[in-house]
Amino acid sequence: MKTVFLKLLALTVAAMLFVASGESSHAQSSGEPAAVDRTATGGAQTLEDILRRQRGEAVPLDAGTGTPEGAPTTGPLGSQGGLSDSELWRRARQGQSVSTSAQDPNAAFLVQDEGAQWLETRRTALPTYTVYAIVAILALLTLFLLIRGRIRIMSGWSSIKIERFSFIERFGHWLLATSFIVLAVTGLALLFGREYLVPALDWIHAKMNPDAINPNYGKEAYAWFAGAGKWAHDNVAWAFMLSLVMIFVMWVFRNIPTWTDVKWLAQLGGMLRQHGHPHARKFNGGQKILFWLVIILGGSLSASGLALLQPYEYSMFSATFDKLNSVGEAVGYSLALNTSLTPIQEMQYAQQWHTIIAVVMIVIIIAHIYIGSVGMQGAFSAMGSGKVDLNWAREHHDMWVAKLEKKGKIPRPAGASKASTRDMPLSAPRKPTVPAE
Ligand code: HEM
Repeated sequence: MKTVFLKLLALTVAAMLFVASGESSHAQSSGEPAAVDRTATGGAQTLEDILRRQRGEAVPLDAGTGTPEGAPTTGPLGSQGGLSDSELWRRARQGQSVSTSAQDPNAAFLVQDEGAQWLETRRTALPTYTVYAIVAILALLTLFLLIRGRIRIMSGWSSIKIERFSFIERFGHWLLATSFIVLAVTGLALLFGREYLVPALDWIHAKMNPDAINPNYGKEAYAWFAGAGKWAHDNVAWAFMLSLVMIFVMWVFRNIPTWTDVKWLAQLGGMLRQHGHPHARKFNGGQKILFWLVIILGGSLSASGLALLQPYEYSMFSATFDKLNSVGEAVGYSLALNTSLTPIQEMQYAQQWHTIIAVVMIVIIIAHIYIGSVGMQGAFSAMGSGKVDLNWAREHHDMWVAKLEKKGKIPRPAGASKASTRDMPLSAPRKPTVPAE
């Protein structure tokens, strides 16, 4: 009995000791890592740091900025002494100087951390927000059409057509329009391609050929389209730039803002009411905004496009950030934008900016196409035949028509040679809508 009791006592003590030792080791592992004496390495990592990293434990040095001054680079502290592989790569990643024999400064850039962030934005945020923006504008326009309906010529068609845009103006406009549409379609295809179009093509192919699925169908079909699209995008861009210059030269003076435009904008062009439009010259306030947006955004799109077309040739963003920093300082706000971007960062900013501006323009142009076609009765012919109905012109651009009348440029209907068209009823001479009895 006594021996049994002694055995039980010994077992209990052993168990308690085991639990206590387990607790103490647990306490040790969960607590803060003991400080490491790095005097021997001049502050650089020690063998203990390397072992800790291998055990998956945190090493405070990993958050640091590299090997401190004076650290030995040889010795028994790793494959390269104080300067171990991990530390070398950390320095390279953090943009610190690592000597290389590469002649090309871009090739000498071994690791570029920002690249991962840029790629992620390129693959996720940019396509996602692009879809949101395009769906939103299409939904808004549909809603507008349903609520407001088509903007009609209130006084009906007249039989008189007046010239609104000359051949060269229309040529400039359509060169701009067709080149922009080609650029938009091919640009969006490049943005969505690898992540979305390839799986979509694979899906269509699988639905259509369930018995003979080619696993590379999407990639192969997209590769062809991407090649042709890239070629078209790079070359059609020149037509876009040329037409941008053309419309700027032809229309800039007519698009200088005036007080009339402010009043036009304050009344939203009379768009929300069924009767009457505010006064306007050849271009109204809304058109002037469109003109300047096309010029400014189109100019910026062209500049960033050229930077992408000629890689590593320009440092636009460093220069722009420098100017923005100066503006910030002038108004007492520190922007602290990086003004010494590497050539690769310049390219990444150019790609992101190019995409953002393009999407903003696409959204604006969708709204413009709507108003220049289905949204407004009588508008399209201005850019189609170059002529518009006199009643349409009087309703939307009354000051322009008044000027033409003064100059005697409004053709008079047959048999009304002496009368001023100003005195004609807006709807005259209209075709009777009810057959004569
Ligand atoms: C199929 C597409 C397009 C159609 C149907 C269209 C239609 C029109 C029409 C009818 C006008 C004359 C409006 C008026 O007489 O007052 C016009 C003007 C203009 N368009 Fe377009 N357009 C198209 C594409 C584009 C594109 C892609 C751009 C630019 C990238 C553009 C830029 C302009 C500019 C700057 C004006 C002069 C300002 C204005 O009248 O709003 N257009 N367009």
